[in-house]
Amino acid sequence: MALFVDSSDPSEIKDLFAWGCFSGVTTNPLIISRESPGADLAEVIREVLTVSTGDVSVELTTETEEEMMAEALGYHAWDPKRIAIKVPFSEVGLRVLHRLAPRGVKTNLTCLMAFNQAYLAALAGATYVSVFSGRIRDMGQDSGPVIEATRQAIEREKLPARIIVGSIRHLMDVNEALDAGAHVVTVPPPILRKMIWHPRTVETIAEFNEAWRKRSDKR
Ligand code: E4P
Repeated sequence: MALFVDSSDPSEIKDLFAWGCFSGVTTNPLIISRESPGADLAEVIREVLTVSTGDVSVELTTETEEEMMAEALGYHAWDPKRIAIKVPFSEVGLRVLHRLAPRGVKTNLTCLMAFNQAYLAALAGATYVSVFSGRIRDMGQDSGPVIEATRQAIEREKLPARIIVGSIRHLMDVNEALDAGAHVVTVPPPILRKMIWHPRTVETIAEFNEAWRKRSDKR
C-alpha cells in the first residue's frame, strides 16, 4: 500500500515529502487551475518532479485520439521514468491507452466511477486505474464495492494495474479505501495533515514536556 500527494503545489509537495511517507503525486486540470492559475504547465510539473519522488500523474486536456497521443508523448518526454499520463476514461481514452502501453508509457486511467470501467482499463494495460471515491459517494453510492471488485479482478487475472483511490474528502475515506483493497490512496494536503493530529497525542506530549520542565526547575 502507498500514499500519493494529490496536489500540484511545489512548495506544499516539498514540505510533505520531507515526512518520508509518500511515493508519488497526482495532478489534474482542476487542481492545477486552482493552485497555479496562469502558470506554465511544463514549469509547474518540472518543479513538482524536482521536489518529489515516484510517479507524477499529468492529465490530458485534449479530446481527439491524435491530439491526445501528441499531448501524451510530449508529457512523457519530460521524464519517461516518472511521468504517468492521466487518460480520461472513454472509448477514445481506451484507444489512446492501447497505443501508449506498448511504447512503455506509464498511464493512469482516470475519472473511473464503476468496476466495469476499471476492469476495461486494467485489461487494456493501464499502469494505474483511478477510482474516484468522493464523486461515487456524491451519487449516493458506495465506493468500497467498486474498489474491492477491481482488486479481486486484478489479483485473479494477474493484471499489472494498480488501483489509485482519489477524490478523497475525509480522513476516514483514506482508511476505508486501503481496507477495501486500494494499492494507493492519493490524498489532498489538508487531509494528510489531519492524519497526523490526535488530541490525546497532543495532550500526552504536552504532559511529558511539562514534567520535564518542572524537573529542570527543581534542580
Ligand atoms: C486524483 O487523481 C483525482 O484527480 C482527484 O483526487 C479528484 O478529486 P476531486 O473529486 O475532489 O476533484
